[in-house]
Amino acid sequence: AAIDKKLAPQPENAKTESLAAHTADAAGEIMNTNTGLPINDDQNSLKAGDRGPTLMDDFIFREKMTHFDHERIPERVVHARGSGAHGVFKVYKPLAEYTKAAFLNDTEVETPVFVRFSTVAGSRGSTDLARDVRGFATKFYTTEGNFDLVGNNIPVFFIQDAIKFPDLVHAVKPEPDNEIPQAASAHDTFWDFISLMPESAHMIMWTMSDRAIPRSYRMMEGFGVHTFRLINDEGKASFVKFHWKPLLGVHSVAWDEAQNISGKDPDFHRRDLWDAIESGAYPEYELGLQIIPEEDEFKYDFDLLDSTKLVPEELVPVQRVGKLTLNRNPDNFFAETEQIAYHIGHVVPGIDFTNDPLLQGRLFSYTDTQLTRLGGPNFQEIPINRPIVPVHNNQRDGFMRQTINKGKTSYSPNSLGNNDPQQVPESAGGFVSYRERIDARKERMRNKSFFDHFSQARLFFNSQSDPEKNHIIDALTFELGKVKTVAIRERMLGILAQIEKSLATQVAYGLGLHLPEVLPTNQSIPADGNPADYQSIQVEG
Ligand code: HEM
Repeated sequence: AAIDKKLAPQPENAKTESLAAHTADAAGEIMNTNTGLPINDDQNSLKAGDRGPTLMDDFIFREKMTHFDHERIPERVVHARGSGAHGVFKVYKPLAEYTKAAFLNDTEVETPVFVRFSTVAGSRGSTDLARDVRGFATKFYTTEGNFDLVGNNIPVFFIQDAIKFPDLVHAVKPEPDNEIPQAASAHDTFWDFISLMPESAHMIMWTMSDRAIPRSYRMMEGFGVHTFRLINDEGKASFVKFHWKPLLGVHSVAWDEAQNISGKDPDFHRRDLWDAIESGAYPEYELGLQIIPEEDEFKYDFDLLDSTKLVPEELVPVQRVGKLTLNRNPDNFFAETEQIAYHIGHVVPGIDFTNDPLLQGRLFSYTDTQLTRLGGPNFQEIPINRPIVPVHNNQRDGFMRQTINKGKTSYSPNSLGNNDPQQVPESAGGFVSYRERIDARKERMRNKSFFDHFSQARLFFNSQSDPEKNHIIDALTFELGKVKTVAIRERMLGILAQIEKSLATQVAYGLGLHLPEVLPTNQSIPADGNPADYQSIQVEG
């Protein structure tokens, strides 16, 4: 009989119950082939004679080996290393004033969720304790379809426009000639790119801080990063920033601890999450919202559409509106954690996008990559990705189609079918994109409101305690100390000096370098915002 090794109760919810139909438990069952034929011997291949060759007609060998030969799928292009868990989300009070999303209005409903935490740069087998951003992706299986909050544990990002994402990732991943280093930012290509990309200054302060080496997935925050929109029943919109606040508080390890742990237990975070859930110490996080009225769109000295900026909590407090509890480990890592497909484009009525150029590009990238990673257009039929509501539309066929659609027609409009899916009016819950007026010139550009790259970086550095500041200085000295090209180190010192002179001076001291005399400034970003010209402009005076 199967042994249930779970120590604490692992509650079921509507999603985990729906997965049950797809699970298989071999305990006490006979072994058979994929076509159902009972297998008599799966340890000896079929041979000609006592010492003869294996025969071509050994279909049992062929089936076993063929399946094995095709077990691997591509790892995610980023966030390859991750761990997941099932859980539930419950809202504290109806949020009808801001959003009509059903799961944010019914305090009785426990919405099933699946969360995947990850590092960004390393491959699937890399260490959990790398100095890196952590992903914090949540799929809510709501009664109106899946809503994905695909966030990170840092509230800002490296770049302002999605078109730079492939460059960023090529720079941060191991160098292409020797695939070194794994899961680390300490190398020339990363700092070369960063030093040429002053908009990354704020993010670099966060990634060189203790935030980038969390103690546990249970002890880190999550952020949606972009400004999204909430829409209420009357069609009124508010801007929103999403937060996750861990009830255990935010904790980190020190860098030498991180390095030790990486050597001794590269699965440290994965094991911690698994063991906590097995033993009933369920990780909990509160959902936080920063709501910004539409009228306040231009109230701040930064642009709400700029993902390198956060909205200071002193200006817009975070309201805690609900709780997420992770209370069940997956049954199968590959089927659930590896095959789940998150996408910020998975929204429900009452939640919508803004024109943040980073957000806009992400809307394309996730489905696009999943078409390759999960083998074609039917990956939403994989059990972990299915919504808890039935799916009916006119999409048909394609590799690995599972659904057996009935009826003669698969097009709209038609007058022949009798079981066609009906479109849903807005008043009955049909999704309608936010009606935003756009009166604009088409142009490849970046707005001036995106040009201040250093104020919030400085704000972050100066908000740190002295030990925390020292950790940032040590991190930069350590990471830049691994950079072979001196010109890159010097260019980074130029960036750091724009953030805070004392920071740059101490890092320069640690590296045995002088601060460069000519420093780029905020104003040195040319009017067209092209950072390619950035280094050629010098400061006056
Ligand atoms: C994963 C693209 C920015 C959070 C991914 C994946 C891609 C991608 C292609 C792999 C998805 C998969 O294979 O299923 C991009 C692009 C970005 C961007 C093009 C910017 C233009 C961000 C930002 C955040 C973020 C700003 C945080 C707010 C994540 C997370 C995952 C992920 C958490 C892992 C999801 C999982 O656990 O499966 N991203 N990303 N990404 N991205 Fe992004």
